[in-house]
Order: sequence, then structure tokens, then C-alpha cells
Amino acid sequence: MAEAFNDKTLTGGKADRYAEVAAEIASVLEGEPDLTARMATVAAMLAQSFDAFFWTGFYVVDPGKAGGLVVGPYQGTLGCLRIAFGRGVCGTAAATRRTQVVPDVEAFPGHIACDGRTRSEIVVPVSDAEGRLIAVLDVDSDRPAAFDEIDAQWLERIVQAVFGR
Ligand code: SME
Repeated sequence: MAEAFNDKTLTGGKADRYAEVAAEIASVLEGEPDLTARMATVAAMLAQSFDAFFWTGFYVVDPGKAGGLVVGPYQGTLGCLRIAFGRGVCGTAAATRRTQVVPDVEAFPGHIACDGRTRSEIVVPVSDAEGRLIAVLDVDSDRPAAFDEIDAQWLERIVQAVFGR
């Protein structure tokens, strides 16, 4: 099923859809330096582009608390407010600075269940132009095994383009 995305309809397969939404995000954000505006726009545009995205948003590195993440802009049901580095999927992505693809959250040690309907998820580290970790992008799905290498590659590409330069 094609989903409405503003006045545009995204029709192709997953990679085609990512390519379209990546271009749309770049175009909407052109000239906008504010970090909150950039994160909110990425979360909204991704969430509206994929049916399987149940919770889409950012946990931001808390400048006031070493080793802590605090919830940032997101789309979806109520998210946990704070996650420590090393805890759950988000904390693991932050601590290792590596994308985590989790096909079955029940099988991930220490998974944090903010919403019990979450079945699978992907978390991508977000770095600034100097290579400092500033956040993680967390996408959760109510479907099992919703994410694969295509999601990892495209979400990494999108956060690099939006926050890494
Ligand atoms: N699933 C995440 C927690 C955040 S929420 O589900 C919004 C985790 O285990 O890191």
C-alpha cells in the first residue's frame, strides 16, 4: 500500500522509499541549523513514510549527566525519559557507537520495554561534524524482524547527512 506523504505518494520498494524520503528531508531542512528542528523533522518524515515504524525518534546525549541519554523529538506512544549508556538497545548503540539491529526484542538482554507492543527495533548512533556522539536514532516496530541491512544503511546515511556535516 502506498502511504500519503504530504502531497507526495511514495510507492517503490524500501530502498527507493528511503531514497525519496532522504531527498525530501534534505530539502525541508536546507538552511535550518537548529538541532531540535532537525531532529523533529527527521522523526516526523520517517514515521510518516513507513507503516512498520511504530516509534521513531531520538535519545539525546545529556550534556548535564555523563553517560546518560534523555528523550528528544519523537513520534509514537509515550517513550521512556532517560536511558543510561550501556542499557537496552539505545544504551548499547550509544556505548558501542554501532548500529544495533534487533529482530526480536525479547531476545535482547536488558531490552527496555517502553511500550510492550514493540517487537523489533533498530538504533543508529548520531554524530556531529566533529565525530562527537550527540544522540541515537531509535526506530521501533510492532512487527517482528522489521529491520534489515537496508534500514541500517539508509538510516546511517540519513543521520550522517543531516547531523554529520
Ligand atoms: N527500545 C529501547 C527503549 C526506548 S523505547 O522503546 C522508545 C531500548 O531498549 O533501548
